[in-house]
Amino acid sequence: MPNFDQIVQLIADDLGAVEAKLTEQTASEYSFVDMAVQHVVKGGGKRLRPILVVLSAKACGYEGSDAHTLAAVVELIHVASLVHDDVLDEASIRRGRETLQTKWGNKVAVLVGDYLHARVLSMLVSRRAEDPAMEILADTTQAMCEGEVIHAYKSGDFDITEDEYLKIISFKTGKLIAASCTLGAHLGTTDERQIAALTTYGQQIGTAFQIVDDLLDFVVAPEKLGKNAFGDLREGKLTFPIIVARSYCDDAEKDKLEHVLNPHTDEAAAIAFVQSLFQRYDVGPHCLTVAQTYADRAKSALQALPDTSARTALEQLANYVVSRDS
Ligand code: FPP
Ligand code: MG
Repeated sequence: MPNFDQIVQLIADDLGAVEAKLTEQTASEYSFVDMAVQHVVKGGGKRLRPILVVLSAKACGYEGSDAHTLAAVVELIHVASLVHDDVLDEASIRRGRETLQTKWGNKVAVLVGDYLHARVLSMLVSRRAEDPAMEILADTTQAMCEGEVIHAYKSGDFDITEDEYLKIISFKTGKLIAASCTLGAHLGTTDERQIAALTTYGQQIGTAFQIVDDLLDFVVAPEKLGKNAFGDLREGKLTFPIIVARSYCDDAEKDKLEHVLNPHTDEAAAIAFVQSLFQRYDVGPHCLTVAQTYADRAKSALQALPDTSARTALEQLANYVVSRDS
């Protein structure tokens, strides 16, 4: 079965065009602005969302260059959201590099996120007036913000349920991944059934992606992860694995978990306690099973599409999202 790199190879020319578009559309004539912007735009991401736009477009029969513009647009929304997310999370490392606010402070980071949004708007307004992308992306950005606000609001709520959390991540992560697929589909077809199938596919792999993202925070070495390991735990952030672990805990363990999630407690002891709970209650496998359920739903949705190599690549991407280790 092809791995992620082989899928990337399949659409290498398209991804090259997307990179060129990203460079062309984000360049600033002011050298510091350009340096700070390129630090994040060329930050070494997987380009999952552009891949999804291109494959979704191809799966619906579209081969033109408009997919490259939309792929660049969704990637810029994603990069902007991560820049702001790293301010919210006070994260120091992203994709193996210092975050913007570590390098240049919160003000620069917030403004670079805003700059990228301005570029997104500019790229969108230069497109056709009847283009659905404007509305889709406005709704998507709103939902991402809503997801992050609810997550921040609920950050101290230990009684948050798995379902409540899954709803939050379907907004903060699932919406943009779904929109990437919807936009690609619109390029190739007007068949609402196919467009809806790709939207569902994106929404489902988006949720799977974030569950795995949450898990990797606890299980992967920081060199591989490209960000601070145990970052969520250090911050006292309630993420999917912690919510799962807590659901199995007895009252004494719940009290201790609540105590170690206080960012001021001894970090090493917190990590050791959480790891012991993960072992005892098989938290890792549980999270992967839930993520796989979402990936399987995503693959079923693809049955509405014609059997093409792009559809096969999308099926493989759904598996990759669960099996990835970085
Ligand atoms: C990463 O989550 C963050 C997101 C998936 C969404 C961030 C959204 C916003 C900041 C809302 C504003 C949106 C825009 C478009 C500016 P994480 O912290 O769980 O993942 P991480 O471990 O990679 O940091
Ligand atoms: Mg974060």
